[in-house]
Amino acid sequence: MYTTLFTTIENNILTITINRPEKLNALNQQVMEELGQAMDEAENDSQVRSIIITGAGEKAFVAGADIKEFLAVSEGEKLAKKGQDIFFKIENASKPVVAAVNGFALGGGCELAMACHFRLASENAKFGQPEVNLGLIPGYGGTQRLTQLIGKGRAMELLLTGNMLDASTALQYGLVNYVVPANELIARTIALLDVINKKAPIAVRECIKAVNAVYDPGKNGFEEEAKSFGITFKTEDMKEGATAFLEKRKAEFKGK
Ligand code: COA
Repeated sequence: MYTTLFTTIENNILTITINRPEKLNALNQQVMEELGQAMDEAENDSQVRSIIITGAGEKAFVAGADIKEFLAVSEGEKLAKKGQDIFFKIENASKPVVAAVNGFALGGGCELAMACHFRLASENAKFGQPEVNLGLIPGYGGTQRLTQLIGKGRAMELLLTGNMLDASTALQYGLVNYVVPANELIARTIALLDVINKKAPIAVRECIKAVNAVYDPGKNGFEEEAKSFGITFKTEDMKEGATAFLEKRKAEFKGK
């Protein structure tokens, strides 16, 4: 049971809703710990094929790390590393994790959305890394993932000005894949995940791994891709997929 998250599993999709709407879903340490736990549980739950992360209420996805906790922190580096580790769990999850950004995604909220595999946004969503206004920099991967996603010049501008991006600019920058009316956001996210959930789970997992290898300086992405290709080639699902194609029928994947 979580105190800061609300979770549901429906049609193999786990929805994690960060549930502190009165504080615009700010990430305090409790939320961060529960997010980590929820990701661990999702990994181990065979019922879960994919994950949506969203925020409670109509105003915010997540308006940042909880600023109230900052003044009591003595070791900033430790806090950042702990948060980064939790976000690595999301980025390296073996199941797709999609952010449904339903409002402000600022600071840690923007970083959380960027740790997900891809993002959909509602028309009222706003993105930004306003840490510079607090005399800080992002600590949960924001300087790295923002630069990876939108390029150096645009990332520098956002990080140095602390300005917010509206949803249509975020779309133009490639920060989000779709912008949809707020009342369609979850349905559109589910519709995409329903497509993915019909694919072979091992192929989905290996795709995520190989794409993530692009951003891991310790890995050769092409070697990782070949390894992953080899893994998928040995699966029963690959035999089923190829046979189904030749027999002109739909494949029934089993995740084996
Ligand atoms: N940490 C802690 N509390 C936060 C928060 C955060 N990151 N963001 C919002 N809240 C709280 C506010 O303190 C307020 O609480 P209160 O009602 O007890 O005073 C409540 O959430 C509502 O926020 P409020 O600022 O009144 O809403 P608004 O519509 O006027 O402004 C924002 C919305 C998002 C522009 C504004 O809340 C904001 O700038 N938040 C901080 C963003 C930020 O700097 N994030 C990076 C942190 S590293």
